[in-house]
Amino acid sequence: MVVNSNSLKVCVVGLGNVGHPTASYIHENGYLVYGYDIDPQKTSQINPITAFCEWEKVPECNIYVVCVNTGWKNGKPDMSNVFDACQKIAEKNKVKPLICIESTVAVGTCRKVAEMFDEVYLAHVPHRFWAGDPHKHGVKQVRVIGALDHESMVKAKNFYESMGIPLYPVSSLEVAEMAKITENAYRFVQIAFVEQLRLLCEKHNIPFKEVRESANTKWNVELLEARDGIKGECLPKDIRYLATLGEAPLLQGAIEADRKYIEHLKTKKLVSA
Ligand SMILES: NC(=O)c1ccc[n+]([C@@H]2O[C@H](COP(=O)([O-])OP(=O)(O)OC[C@H]3O[C@@H](n4cnc5c(N)ncnc54)[C@H](O)[C@@H]3O)[C@@H](O)[C@H]2O)c1
Repeated sequence: MVVNSNSLKVCVVGLGNVGHPTASYIHENGYLVYGYDIDPQKTSQINPITAFCEWEKVPECNIYVVCVNTGWKNGKPDMSNVFDACQKIAEKNKVKPLICIESTVAVGTCRKVAEMFDEVYLAHVPHRFWAGDPHKHGVKQVRVIGALDHESMVKAKNFYESMGIPLYPVSSLEVAEMAKITENAYRFVQIAFVEQLRLLCEKHNIPFKEVRESANTKWNVELLEARDGIKGECLPKDIRYLATLGEAPLLQGAIEADRKYIEHLKTKKLVSA
């Protein structure tokens, strides 16, 4: 079944790096889209979409796409923006809405969201957006999808497939949550490995570049470059979400390796300055 997009109202909650292009994409696909953000700057820059920073002004919608930022506070995942957004939706909606959580969340978050509602269709469709190439790695790319139940999966699949977004369905919300943080934690570990390798090479006056290139001639080795340390918010945040799930000496080691590498680069700059 393909949805009649024109009859459905969609609200994108959180209009930042991910929410803004998401709202535009949904609009381009014929839905009636509203935007909501607590930051007035974000709502003033999203023409032609009607966006509000006063929640009361947002009409009741059929579908909510949650793209708020998630964080790390006091040594723990901070999901307060997701819970705040979903609480507002729960209070507004009289009809059973479809909520698609696209933010990266700690494992267990989506199920807690479901408990905030009497009735809800809920899916987790974590974003893989990369601002470096939004055409290839933007809103429309293969996305993992996990859902609360069969009906939620059907509704959410209809929504995303109506916009040509290819999906990889998984058996639960938790699999989708875990898969997303795994992707970024895996990348983090790969980078931390070459950072540590580069430091070891430098210590022994062995050219890192040559070691890397020669090792990469083996069919199952693909060492990355060691650059300026792991930047941005997503990779450092998501590896920590994974590391909170139990004993994780490898992940903790990778975090420490990256910290030491960045410290080393800073010292080198000071010396050469
Ligand atoms: N930036 C990326 O490339 C990227 C890629 C993949 C996944 N993600 C994930 O997507 C999520 C969003 O990331 P982002 O980079 O767009 O963040 P962002 O900070 O650019 O945007 C988030 C927006 O949400 C708004 N917001 C916060 N709390 C809110 C609330 N309670 N109600 C309404 N609006 C609220 C903020 O004002 C902000 O404008 C994060 O979980 C991130 O980990 C980001």
